[in-house]
Amino acid sequence: MAASPTNSPPGNPARRRPSGRCARIAAGIDRQARRLAALANAADAARRSSETILDSLPDPLLLFGEDRTLYRSNAAARAAFGGEMAAVLRHPLLRGAIDRAFATKAPQTADVTLPVPVAREVQATVILLDPVLADGTAALVVLSDRTRERAVERMRSDFVTNASHELRTPLASVIGFIDTLRGPAADDVPAQRRFLGIMAEQAARMHRLIDDLLSLSRIELTEHQPPADRVDLVKLIRSVAAGFEPRLAGRLRLDIAEGLPAVTGDADQLAQVLGNLIDNAAKYGGEAGEVRVSLGPPAGTRWPARPGVLIAVSDDGPGIPRADLPRLTERFYRVDKARSRGVGGTGLGLAIVKHIINRHRGQLAIDSEEGRGSMFSVWLPAAEG
Ligand SMILES: Nc1ncnc2c1ncn2[C@@H]1O[C@H](COP(=O)(O)OP(=O)(O)O)[C@@H](O)[C@H]1O
Ligand SMILES: [Mg+2]
Repeated sequence: MAASPTNSPPGNPARRRPSGRCARIAAGIDRQARRLAALANAADAARRSSETILDSLPDPLLLFGEDRTLYRSNAAARAAFGGEMAAVLRHPLLRGAIDRAFATKAPQTADVTLPVPVAREVQATVILLDPVLADGTAALVVLSDRTRERAVERMRSDFVTNASHELRTPLASVIGFIDTLRGPAADDVPAQRRFLGIMAEQAARMHRLIDDLLSLSRIELTEHQPPADRVDLVKLIRSVAAGFEPRLAGRLRLDIAEGLPAVTGDADQLAQVLGNLIDNAAKYGGEAGEVRVSLGPPAGTRWPARPGVLIAVSDDGPGIPRADLPRLTERFYRVDKARSRGVGGTGLGLAIVKHIINRHRGQLAIDSEEGRGSMFSVWLPAAEG
C-alpha cells in the first residue's frame, strides 16, 4: 500500500522501494507494528512468567474474576483438588468467604471440610486484589490442607484426656480409701489391712502408667535417630526369657536359629519390645498354654527384600477379633478394658512396641485366629557391612 510503482520493478510488489512521504508513513507503520509485536511478546512473556510463578508455588491457589467465577488455578491446586474442584468451588463456606471478602475488602478465611473421596479439612483464605489485576484477577484463594495437622491435634488431646482419665481412676480410689481409713474404718483393723492392700494395688497401677508414659515420650523423642549399637539378639532373647521363667514356669519355649546376621539396635529398647510381647502372651494367652519365642530368617513375601531377621512371639490363647487388629498399637486401645486392668495392663505396651520398632526401621505384624492364638512378628533390618 505504501509502494510507489515508479521506483519498483514491475510485477514484484515485494521489491518495490517506497520513497518520500509514503516511505515515511511505511516506516512509521512498520515501527508501530514492531512495537506492537514487542508489546504483545512482552505481555505474553509476562503472562507466561506469572503462570510459571503461580505453578511453582507449593500452595494450591485459585484466582477469581470480578464476577466471582474461577478464572485460573495453579498446578498445586489442580494436583490437590483436581477431581474435587467442583465440590470446593460449590462449598457454601467458601462462597460465603468470597462474598464477605468482596463486601468488606478485607481477607477472609473459611474452614472447609470435603467429605469425598477421603475426608479432608482445608483452610481457605480469600484475599481481594484492589485494584483488579490487568488480567482480570479480582480475588485470590489460598487453600491449605490441614487434615494431618488436625488429626495430630485431635490425637494429642485424646491422649491427654485418656492419660488423665487412666490416672484419675486409681487416684480417686486411693483418696476414697484414705477418707474411709480416717473415718468409718479408723478402729477396724481387718478392714484397714484390706483397704491398704487395694491402695497398694492402685498406687502400683499409677506407677506402671507413669513409667509407660515416660517410656513412650522418651522413645518418641529419639524416634527419628536410628540406634547405633550392635545387638546380639540370641543373648538378648535368652536373658529376657530367663526373667519370665518364674512366672511362666516351663511354659516358655525358645526356638532360636544360629548364624543370623547381627542387627543394629538399642538393646534396652529391644528387650522392652520382647518383654511387652511375652508379658501380653502370658497375660492374655491360655491359662496353662505355651508361649513360644522364635528367632529366625524372615520367610514369605510380607517382609522387605533387604536382609533382616524375624522375632516372633506366639501364644495359644483365645486370640484377638479381626476388627481389633488394626487398632491394637493405638495408645490405650484394649480389646477388653476390664480384663487388661485386671491383669495390670496400661494399654500402652503395644504402642511402645510399635514406636521402638519404627525407630529401628523395622516392621510389626500381628496375626491372630480366634480360639487358636496370636502371633506378634517383628522384622528387624540386618546391620550393614
Ligand atoms: N497375645 C495376646 N492375645 C490376646 N490379646 C492381646 C494379646 N496381646 C495384646 N492383646 C490385646 O491388646 C491390648 C493392648 O495390649 P497392650 O498395648 O500391651 O496393653 P495392655 O497389655 O497394657 O492392656 C490388650 O489389652 C489386649 O486386649
Ligand atoms: Mg501389654
